[in-house]
Amino acid sequence: MILLKNGRIIENNLLKNKDILIDDNGIIIKIENDIEEDCEVIDCNNNVVLPGLTDVHVHLREPGYEHKETIHSGTMSAAKGGITTIMPMPNLKPTPDCVKNLKIELDLIKKYSLVDCFPYATITKGQKDEEISEIDELSSYVKAYTDDGFGVNNLEVLEEACRKVSKYNLLIASHAEDKILKYSPESEYISVNREIEIAKKTNCRYHFCHMSTRKSFEYIRAAKENGFNITCEVSPHHLIFNESNILDSNYKMNPPLRSEDDRLATIEALLDGTVDMIASDHAPHTKEEKQREYDLCPNGITGLETMVPIIVTYFVKKNLLSWNRFLDLMLYNPAKIFNLPLNEIKVGNICNITVIDIDNLHEYTEDEILSMGHNNPYIGMKLYGFPIYTLVHGKVVYKK
Ligand code: NCD
Ligand code: ZN
Repeated sequence: MILLKNGRIIENNLLKNKDILIDDNGIIIKIENDIEEDCEVIDCNNNVVLPGLTDVHVHLREPGYEHKETIHSGTMSAAKGGITTIMPMPNLKPTPDCVKNLKIELDLIKKYSLVDCFPYATITKGQKDEEISEIDELSSYVKAYTDDGFGVNNLEVLEEACRKVSKYNLLIASHAEDKILKYSPESEYISVNREIEIAKKTNCRYHFCHMSTRKSFEYIRAAKENGFNITCEVSPHHLIFNESNILDSNYKMNPPLRSEDDRLATIEALLDGTVDMIASDHAPHTKEEKQREYDLCPNGITGLETMVPIIVTYFVKKNLLSWNRFLDLMLYNPAKIFNLPLNEIKVGNICNITVIDIDNLHEYTEDEILSMGHNNPYIGMKLYGFPIYTLVHGKVVYKK
């Protein structure tokens, strides 16, 4: 048994002092004030005990690109960031576009993942935008399909995929990008607009990844108001940086940092409920790759370790987001939309928990990074909300 003592949990939007007792199967068996038990005790020191949080958009790079990240290093990074449920993206080698390939990834996850891990399958074979993946066969293994890294521009293929995916009540997660317009704002919102039409027509549940332009949010807001099953995520970097903040390749990602007006629109959409969840788009690359000339180096920054601290520091501590809305964005909405297990801190539930320090600023330094990717623009920043413990299925997987 493990006893978490002197923590504060969130109840009705307020922080309440509670101790939590976990049995040897990793199940929460008691939540009360002042539990006394003769067992291993973790002193939470008045820090905030949160349910393990979710990130639906991470690149773990294995199988295929283990020089950038592995399932082991990526999930250590998740644990350090207080994230206990992740959804890895399918831009891998081989790509999970059929059950055979997906099983290679699932086996590796079973062996090496420290957190709960639900991989995506691709929408199209080899993410080539030509023909659909084995959507029927894959439907009992995945929660959602995406071609992340590339936009699906072949609209007939997308429509065919949507029809199939909706049959299983699963989800399409779209990296909305037009192949000709590339990284421009229009590229994103034009794709969003045309894909919403396909989602409506096919009655498919449709999720937009890393939204970053004012017009995208306008289209999504309107579709939601009209009762369509359209959802979206935003990433921390689009909330706190704009294009004028770009210093080096650690600020290069896709979608890119945009105008101040787009950044403000992203915050407005977060605050008015248009945004359903926050996801890091953790995209590790090697030092060598990121040191290439700016235009030639790959897109992507890491984000698993800093997502919670950024949202706590910039939004919760400033009273822009309540604790309840924070949990909606980081746990309840992703769980509901992607049909993921719900890590509520409740008697009878599996103990997936992270303990975060919201009272002390901590400077994020390169030597503490657990991801293999050091391509991170937050190094040197002082933030609140870093985890000091993370438990998955009742076991400590991270300790500061
Ligand atoms: C992603 C990656 O590195 O896999 N990079 C990124 O900047 N988000 C792929 C992508 O979506 O472009
Ligand atoms: Zn993407």
